[in-house]
Amino acid sequence: MSFLRLLGRRHSRLAILAVAAVSLLLLLPTARHELGSALWFVFFSPSLPSLYSSSASLGNVDVIQYINPLIGTVNGGHVFPGASLPYGMAKAVADTDSRAENAAGFVSDDSKIIGFSHMHDSGTGGSPSLGNFPLFVHPGCPDDDYEKCAYMSIQRGVARRDGTARASPGYFAIDLNNSVSAEMTASQHAALYRFTFDLTNLVDHEGQNDDGGKKRIWSAKEYVPFSPLVVLDLADLANSRSMGNVEVFPDTGRVTGSAAYAPSFGSGRYEAYVCADFDGAVIRNTGVFAATTATDEQNSFDFTKTEKTSKIHRTHGSAGAWLQFAPPSASEEKDYSIDVRVGVSFISTDQACANAEREIPDTSHGKGWDFDGTVLAAQDAWREKLAPIQVDAAGVSVDMQTTFWSGLYRALLSPQNYTGENQKWTSDEPYYDSFYCIWDSFRAQHPLLTILDPPAQTEMVRALLDIYRHDGKLPDCRMSFCKGYTQGGSNADVVIADAFVKNLTGGGIDWATAYEAVVSDAEIEPRVWGVEGRGNLDSYHALGYIPWDDQDSKGSGPMSRSISRLVEYAYDDFSIALMAKGLRENPSLLSSSEGTLAYLDDDYAKYHARGANWKNLWNPDQHDLYRGLQNEVAESDFVGFLQPRLLNGSFMYHSTRRCSPVFDMHSCYYDTRFDTYEGSPWLYSFYAPQDMRALVQLMGGRDIFAKRLHYFHESGIAYMGNEQTFLPVYQFHYAGRPGLSSYWAHEYVPGLFNASVNGIPGNDDCAMGAFSAFVYMGFFPVAGQNVYLLTPPFFREVRIRARDNKADAVLRVVNFDPTYRNKYIQNATLNGEPYTRNWITHDIFLHGGVLEFTVGPEESKTWGTREEDLPPSYYGE
Ligand SMILES: *[C@@H]1O[C@H](CO)[C@@H](O)[C@H](O)[C@H]1NC(C)=O
Ligand SMILES: *[C@@H]1O[C@H](CO)[C@@H](O)[C@H](O)[C@H]1NC(C)=O
Ligand SMILES: *[C@@H]1O[C@H](CO)[C@@H](O)[C@H](O)[C@H]1NC(C)=O
Ligand SMILES: *[C@@H]1O[C@H](CO)[C@@H](O)[C@H](O)[C@H]1NC(C)=O
Ligand SMILES: *[C@@H]1O[C@H](CO)[C@@H](O)[C@H](O)[C@H]1NC(C)=O
Ligand SMILES: *[C@@H]1O[C@H](CO)[C@@H](O)[C@H](O)[C@H]1NC(C)=O
Repeated sequence: MSFLRLLGRRHSRLAILAVAAVSLLLLLPTARHELGSALWFVFFSPSLPSLYSSSASLGNVDVIQYINPLIGTVNGGHVFPGASLPYGMAKAVADTDSRAENAAGFVSDDSKIIGFSHMHDSGTGGSPSLGNFPLFVHPGCPDDDYEKCAYMSIQRGVARRDGTARASPGYFAIDLNNSVSAEMTASQHAALYRFTFDLTNLVDHEGQNDDGGKKRIWSAKEYVPFSPLVVLDLADLANSRSMGNVEVFPDTGRVTGSAAYAPSFGSGRYEAYVCADFDGAVIRNTGVFAATTATDEQNSFDFTKTEKTSKIHRTHGSAGAWLQFAPPSASEEKDYSIDVRVGVSFISTDQACANAEREIPDTSHGKGWDFDGTVLAAQDAWREKLAPIQVDAAGVSVDMQTTFWSGLYRALLSPQNYTGENQKWTSDEPYYDSFYCIWDSFRAQHPLLTILDPPAQTEMVRALLDIYRHDGKLPDCRMSFCKGYTQGGSNADVVIADAFVKNLTGGGIDWATAYEAVVSDAEIEPRVWGVEGRGNLDSYHALGYIPWDDQDSKGSGPMSRSISRLVEYAYDDFSIALMAKGLRENPSLLSSSEGTLAYLDDDYAKYHARGANWKNLWNPDQHDLYRGLQNEVAESDFVGFLQPRLLNGSFMYHSTRRCSPVFDMHSCYYDTRFDTYEGSPWLYSFYAPQDMRALVQLMGGRDIFAKRLHYFHESGIAYMGNEQTFLPVYQFHYAGRPGLSSYWAHEYVPGLFNASVNGIPGNDDCAMGAFSAFVYMGFFPVAGQNVYLLTPPFFREVRIRARDNKADAVLRVVNFDPTYRNKYIQNATLNGEPYTRNWITHDIFLHGGVLEFTVGPEESKTWGTREEDLPPSYYGE
């Protein structure tokens, strides 16, 4: 999704380029933060000496060096660039106050740093997500008086030092302008921070002790007397906290706390718990605060109980605990740092502490934690996750390789594995959260995970089914244990069908429940279909479309989006038909005998028929009208568009271009009154992946279809910053023009998907990187179907470990041209045999196989062009 108003986008461009340039210089470590920075140096510099890889290097490359988590941290990408494990619940980063951009905490602009927090989402729209329990570090307080320090998030922000943000998998660091440097790393449910202080910037002068003796006084030059004060705030990024309690234990320095919060794009509330431990410096004083009031007279509060006598009152926003530390003694100066280990949980503070103690244990000598070891473990976890894919990158620029690997990396940030942390129900099934949103992720991310990490995808499907069991419906969007807003159809149906057709059948997915869940989406309208299921189902079933003037007596939800919801409902139904057919053929998956499954034949017929419903809003006479350069009404050559329709069957007019970059782009978000969601009728008129032969016919045949799709991309109507535009890059395949798909793939990568901090054209959603990764690998999934559309890989060779673990799926360009002048497939072989289809099935990823391409500078007139070479359409003419 791209649920955001893009404020201040333009003016920030220059700043962005400057930041990008600086980050590319990969700052060398400074003396003060040797440890983390040394790791940074080791893992980043090897890629520097040569800009191009010259030798075939399949399998010998440490991919960590090609992952730049800062890509997409500005320009609406909303990427989380901090420290995380794959699917990790703990996600540590510096949070900024960059309005409209800080959905994931950090932004590569010049906004202030307001804290360091431990849980985030990545790439989302909506409000800023999570960001609970931020730490903030002051080098000291004015006049050495703790009451004079800034506690509230809106007061305490400090500028960063330009270009000091450093990120690699499992590691993030940044220097603040108040002499504080922060480094962080993460395990599955805990974050570890190291705060150091630029003592070269401190003034050391002599003063008098109370007894008249000499005393060394540190002060942070131009700042404050040196005596670090660390705040632990119960607030979250969106300032949605209610209630809350905190306690700081002055003897050990432990802080525990919890509060309730709102989800960032949904309804309901959730609770979160924290447990922080401190190490490295001597505790001088402790206390609590709320808003601007701090006290050292109490070390706890609980806002659920009334404490009329307390100085600390119940407030919204900032409130929490603080600890102040003594400055270093002469012998400690060299390695004075404050380490903070933060465990988080959605169950209890005890579990938050246990998570931290288990995952980041005390070192053997009893004190402190292994920061470097935690970073290295995280890097290993990422290496292992990405190991099934190898590429021969000979001739491919470091930037291109970085785009590829970083995209894969981002696709594994969310959904997050909250198994064991489910606060809503008790179950033995896996629990994943931050399906945010399936509307975005079903198209490329989940199909990617099915290839790259089938066990994780299997757990995610099982988690979806457990949500169905306990919440009554599959989610279309879900975050922080809450129901998120449904943007279109019930696309979890496609995720489940995709898992089914790709044989994700051995990992404990309960297919009886899966089938029940998707049928429930299709048949049973929930009372509030704005957060689950589908709406307007009576009319949809009776008329085969969603009338513009429908009266929905069964449930309530946003009645807009009649076009975009229809095409998604129809495709969702089609995917249910595929499941019905597949289950009928594999009765053992339902632990039934064949005879008892006759109802599946009827279901197949019903859902297959509904899969053709997209046609019912097709107005064959609708022209494409727009305002030309002289403000005159102009018209393109293309006729026939999806249009809204009344109950009585008459069509209405809806601008074919509204909600595209060329007309009224920002009028179709969740609260829209229009008939398409985050895209135009131009875009949605291409969405019939189940029935492409009919669509090509409706548009006037192959030539006009290809011309029209080309015009869509060329005219600026296409917006690549949103996921519905992925498939239209490849739909030329259905007109027998796979070369045009390759042409546009090369236009968009690296044009809009690249390795700069602004290198993602819209909210990442953990999906944009999946898209670009598929582009690089040379195939793109038609989600829900056993179909991948072929284009030449951007590498000489891509090698993917097959599911059976015995062989690899190999995609190879025999006459690879790293300049990409030769970007059109001339012919291909599969396992040595000529292969003329412009698509493949999942079979190669199950059992391996070798697909070889010969490429040339012109579109081939023969390869992949004949009717029998086209990807399947599932309906007759
Ligand atoms: C950083 O701190 C210095 C010294 O206090 C100050 O002059 C400068 O304006 C600060 N920079 C930013 C960006 O706030
Ligand atoms: C998810 O977390 C659970 C509990 O920690 C663990 O058993 C499981 O292996 C994890 N799944 C993945 C794919 O990492
Ligand atoms: C997929 O699984 C089904 C049974 O679940 C089996 O019949 C079929 O052969 C499998 N296909 C492949 C390509 O492994
Ligand atoms: C449907 O209703 C609209 C608006 O009332 C009207 O203009 C149109 O003529 C009607 N169409 C039919 C087929 O009755
Ligand atoms: C990288 O992508 C961004 C947006 O997606 C685009 O604005 C920028 O021009 C691209 N940069 C390069 C060097 O292609
Ligand atoms: C594939 O195309 C290339 C270049 O046109 C040609 O040299 C080669 O013989 C072709 N191979 C097959 C198997 O058709």
